[in-house]
Amino acid sequence: MKLITNIHQLLVTGEYKAPVRGKAMSQMPYISNAYLLIKEDRIHDYGAMQDIPAITNVEIIDATGKIVLPMWCDSHTHLVYATGREDEFVDRINGLSYEEIAKRGGGILNSVARLRAMSEDALFEDATKRLEHLISLGTGAIEIKSGYGLSVAAEKKMLSVIARLKTHFDIPIKATLLGAHAIPTEYKDDRKAYIQLIIKEMIPAFAKDNLCDFIDVFCESGYFTVAEMEAILEAGKAHGLRPKVHVNQFNAIGGIAAAVKYDALSVDHLEELVTEDIDALKGSNTIPVALPGCSFFLSIPYTPARQLIDAGLPLAIATDYNPGSAPSGNMNFVVAQACIQLNMTPEEAITAATINGAFAMDIASETGSITKGKKANLIITTPQKSYNTIPYRFGHHQIEQLILNGKRL
Ligand code: NIG
Ligand code: FE
Repeated sequence: MKLITNIHQLLVTGEYKAPVRGKAMSQMPYISNAYLLIKEDRIHDYGAMQDIPAITNVEIIDATGKIVLPMWCDSHTHLVYATGREDEFVDRINGLSYEEIAKRGGGILNSVARLRAMSEDALFEDATKRLEHLISLGTGAIEIKSGYGLSVAAEKKMLSVIARLKTHFDIPIKATLLGAHAIPTEYKDDRKAYIQLIIKEMIPAFAKDNLCDFIDVFCESGYFTVAEMEAILEAGKAHGLRPKVHVNQFNAIGGIAAAVKYDALSVDHLEELVTEDIDALKGSNTIPVALPGCSFFLSIPYTPARQLIDAGLPLAIATDYNPGSAPSGNMNFVVAQACIQLNMTPEEAITAATINGAFAMDIASETGSITKGKKANLIITTPQKSYNTIPYRFGHHQIEQLILNGKRL
């Protein structure tokens, strides 16, 4: 057993039956001057120092002046990819837009060509290094998408890499099939046939082999229409895959209401929102997810988080880690951006990056909060004035110690 003592502030404590929504997001429960008891890989007990139980034979970790919180839950990434796209980064600096680069055959299709040429082993090795790095930055649970294969064989290769990551790493990992990320070049004159390939071949085969947990579509002008998304979500649902979709990144074309109709677990991006989108989310079980790293990197609008939260909705934040629109998987930076660019309070941002991220991956019964029985996946910070310092000192490394499955990393 391990006993963390004298914790300056212990964050995101309590029981969570549903995502935290609206005003409650700014009321993040925490305990000042707290202890936390770990038994094996689980949180066994926690509370105020004055109520600390008398126990012997425990390893004491003194956290005087330090903040303890659940490890970050990153609910939207494209962690498996071939190589970076620094060339397009420079093209954008020189004036081209993300959409113009895509029209020239760059963008997603650029990553597709590179990934198809790479072996599963090489992809696994690179993804392993990336994930090790993200864990060192405090990420304790992650969702990873396919979508750079766009053929049955190459999508299967990507999903197989994610399956190997699930076995290799002892953190919750969820896999999402994003066959509908773009129309591959060989189908550019027959998009119907590609959509049928997703519906008739990819979804049944990958669901049967348990290679994916969720279904995703990039619903956007120039990518997939709302009707096409609905057909794919319908097929996914028939095979037990709940939708988690890319919508409203550049244009509001009605994808949110359609996703809600299919009981999407989450709708992600939402940089462009109209009133109808917010209305569609009210009263639904669908969690909006903001990806501020993408807005920062592409210089596009930020998701209007205030509108969503003030409408009483829950909100999660994630990195969108990918080589084209968000080449950083650093959740600490995303939490800072949520405060600085999305006008979220530190309480809202931390809630969005932990328990709400866990709900957006359907793993909230396991992780995302300081709750008895949940995984002891914890961040212990360097000494801080308060948890407000975490987003305030953006870009600084403030993690002193990580506890993963009850073990010091
Ligand atoms: O979430 N928007 C679509 N997909 C990714 C970007 C993928 C890429 O550019 O490689 C995103 O931003
Ligand atoms: Fe994405």
